[in-house]
Amino acid sequence: SFYPIAGIVLSYFIGNISPAILIGKMAGIDIRNQGSGNAGSTNVLRVLGKKAAAATFVIDVLKGAVAVLIGNYIGGTEVAMACGAAAFVGHIWPLIFGFKGGKGIATAFGVIVALEPGLGLLMAAIALSVIAISRRVSVGSVVAILLLPLVAYFFDPIYVLWSAFMAVIALIKHRSNIRRLFRGEEPKISFKK
Ligand code: G3P
Repeated sequence: SFYPIAGIVLSYFIGNISPAILIGKMAGIDIRNQGSGNAGSTNVLRVLGKKAAAATFVIDVLKGAVAVLIGNYIGGTEVAMACGAAAFVGHIWPLIFGFKGGKGIATAFGVIVALEPGLGLLMAAIALSVIAISRRVSVGSVVAILLLPLVAYFFDPIYVLWSAFMAVIALIKHRSNIRRLFRGEEPKISFKK
């Protein structure tokens, strides 16, 4: 029917609403020209500080969760998965901001935790542990991305291809981080501001 498509399009545009870009604008900057250039909570922490970063993270997570709720309401798990993936894509390539958005980690977390809470919380525990050990958000993100399709398999095989789709995109978005890590140039997380 018509409704799943409408839900997917709506979810894409929910993903477009970038708190990193909007909070940056309020502070008089384009976050995409500062720090790593990424429109996400890690870069907002780096450039604008803790409060702005916390707000960015919460809103980016909610975008993913809301998309899943919309999809679930329209047509159950499969539509929820499609809407969640659409919000993730909309966050990374936002039409309303010239297709230049974030790397998708917070929004993917919101999607996964809304769809399969145990999987979301386990992936968050993995990412946070690796961030704590490495002192770098990108290392936690990349490790979690690489493990996601495998861990998802143990929750339900229906998640494998779907999570691999998001994992491949998020991994591609982290290629500059991976390059910096190999050169020893990736900055540690900082809470100075
Ligand atoms: O989720 C993004 C994070 O893994 C890296 O952000 O700003 O250090 O490239 P950033």
